[in-house]
Amino acid sequence: MTLTIGVDVGGTKVAAGVVDVAGEVRARVRRDTPADDVAKTRDVIVEVVSELAAEHEVSAVGIGAAGWIDAARSTVLFAPNIAWRNEPLRDYVSAAVGLPVIVENDANVAAWGEFRYGAGRDADNSMVLFTIGTGVGGGIVLGGELLRGAHGIAAELGHMLSVPDGHLCGCGRLGCIEQYASGNALVRFARAGARQEPTRAGILLELAGGDVEAVTGPMVTAAARSGDPVSCAAFAQIGRWLGIGLADMAQILDPEVLVVGGGVVEAGELLMGPTRRAFTEALAARATIPVAEIRPAEMGNTAGLIGAADLARRR
Ligand code: BGC
Ligand code: NA
Ligand code: ZN
Repeated sequence: MTLTIGVDVGGTKVAAGVVDVAGEVRARVRRDTPADDVAKTRDVIVEVVSELAAEHEVSAVGIGAAGWIDAARSTVLFAPNIAWRNEPLRDYVSAAVGLPVIVENDANVAAWGEFRYGAGRDADNSMVLFTIGTGVGGGIVLGGELLRGAHGIAAELGHMLSVPDGHLCGCGRLGCIEQYASGNALVRFARAGARQEPTRAGILLELAGGDVEAVTGPMVTAAARSGDPVSCAAFAQIGRWLGIGLADMAQILDPEVLVVGGGVVEAGELLMGPTRRAFTEALAARATIPVAEIRPAEMGNTAGLIGAADLARRR
C-alpha cells in the first residue's frame, strides 16, 4: 500500500498530490508557478512535496516538467516555454526532501496516467497522447511501457513539422505543430480572425471588452460554445493541424488508441470534429482499414500528477 507523491509543474500552476496504488489522489496541493523564476519554481516544488510528505508516509516522488529530460530522469536539459536550462531538478529536490525523486516530461506523465487509469485504460499495449496547452506535448506508450528513447527525449510531438518555414517555435525551429495546434495558436488564430472580420467575432469581442489583444484561450472556448463563427473557425484550424499530426502517428506506430488532452478538450466536438475529419482525410486510403480511434483525455489536469506518482512507484 505504498503511497507516492506526483507533482505536475505547469506554466501557471504547480499541482501535487499523494497517490495510492489504485491511482486515487489522497491529498492535494496547488500553488502558482513563479513565472520565469527558476530558483523560486524549484522551491515551490520542494515546498509542496514537504507539505504532503509531512502528513503522509510516502516512498518516492515523481515530477512532470514541461521540457526535455535526460535519460537518467534527473536533469531538465531544455524547456521551450520555461527558463530551465540544464536544471538538475532531481538531485535538488531529493536532497531537500530526503526522498527518491524521478523527473519525467510533463506530457509523458500525463500519457502514462491516461494509459493506466484514463482514456487508455482498456488498451493493453499502445497509446499516443497529444496534450494541447501553452505548448503541444506528446507521450507514447508502446509494449505497455512509456517510450523514453535513447536519450530520454522521445515523444516530443509538439516539435513535429507542420508548416515548412512557418512560425518561429520556442525550440528555435520554424513551423512546429506547437505553433499551429497549441492553446497559444488557438488564441493567435482567433485574434487574427477577429481583426479581419470583427462582425463575425461579436461574441468573442464582447467577452474581451472590445480589445482583440485581450482575447484569451478560455474566451475563445466560451465564444465558440455560444456559436461565435470566428472562434469556431479557430478551433477548426487547430483541429486540422492536430488531425494531420495524429494521422502521422497512426502511420508510424499504429497504436490502439489516440488521445487528445489539455484544457482545450473542454471544447468537445468544436475541437474533436475538425480533428477527426482532418485525421481521416490525411490517412486517405489508409482510413479504410482499421486504425485507432481518437478519444478525448478523461483525467483533466490530474493525469500528470497521477502518472508521475505511478512512475515514481515503479522506478
Ligand atoms: C515541450 C515539451 C512539453 C510540451 C507541453 C513543449 O514545448 O517541448 O517538452 O511536453 O511543450 O508542455
Ligand atoms: Na513527451
Ligand atoms: Zn518546436
